[in-house]
Amino acid sequence: MNVINNIRQLRSWSTINKGARCVFVPTMGALHDGHAALIRTAREIAGQNGNVAVSIFVNPLQFGPNEDLAKYPRTLIEDLGLCRDNGADMIFAPKAEDLYPTDRSIVLQETSLSQRLCGASRPGHFDGVCTIVAKLFNLVQCDDAVFGKKDYQQFAIIRRLVRDLDFNVVLHGVETVREADGLAMSSRNRYLSPEERAQAPALRTALLAARDAWKNGERDPAALERLITQTIQDKAPSSRIDYVSAADATTLQPVTATTELVVIAVAVFFGSTRLIDNIELK
Ligand code: PAJ
Repeated sequence: MNVINNIRQLRSWSTINKGARCVFVPTMGALHDGHAALIRTAREIAGQNGNVAVSIFVNPLQFGPNEDLAKYPRTLIEDLGLCRDNGADMIFAPKAEDLYPTDRSIVLQETSLSQRLCGASRPGHFDGVCTIVAKLFNLVQCDDAVFGKKDYQQFAIIRRLVRDLDFNVVLHGVETVREADGLAMSSRNRYLSPEERAQAPALRTALLAARDAWKNGERDPAALERLITQTIQDKAPSSRIDYVSAADATTLQPVTATTELVVIAVAVFFGSTRLIDNIELK
């Protein structure tokens, strides 16, 4: 496994590996089993002759002024072990000053899908995500890229980025990996107090209750949102709901008569820790 931490080395790695299919997994590190599932999926797509590239970079551009950039967990040594164990060939772990010149003056802006859900409470976040993902696609020169559906809005926005800016990259989405009690794995779960951790599976419980209601014929988005809100309030009294929102899975706009797939996304604060989850209704 090659560990590369500057752009010059990355360019020569790309040149040497030009003929091989390159499958890319962008991450911010603090890797867990969710990331491991992405890397294993990438390994399957790349096959024996292809390469699996993983980036580890805590992207300052996607953190708001009151968010957790400084305290975001950094566990590079353990991360490298997880990458190796799951079949990665190359790790790109640059420093912020290598990727962002101090006088940089160009950023990407997403003006539609990012207006609701997480984008509404994290202004500028998805512009930061689009900017770094576009830069990483240019740098890594991948053929495919793998993202988790846990960050549902992010995945929808990256699909739009690839379409609107003509990136020649095939995207793959991986189902959310969960703890045994249903809590979606996240680098931020470690910030939860024992009491908050005990209540956090309420997000999943509430989404499953909505899925049951959907299977029993409930189609009113507002009724499904109310059921979720009520379940979270009952089962997680220490939490504060940021949003509960049923949306069209492609446009992320409110559900309409032409919606083919409905997704319900939730974001909940436990103290200053913000957890997200979602469920597709079919
Ligand atoms: P990060 O939060 O590290 O997540 C990296 C990838 O892992 C994302 O595609 C995310 O959806 C996926 N992931 C996280 N938890 C998961 C889980 N429990 N199950 C399945 N997949 C999971 O998302 C980012 O980093 C950044 O925004 C990034 C795209 C790297 C740009 O900076």
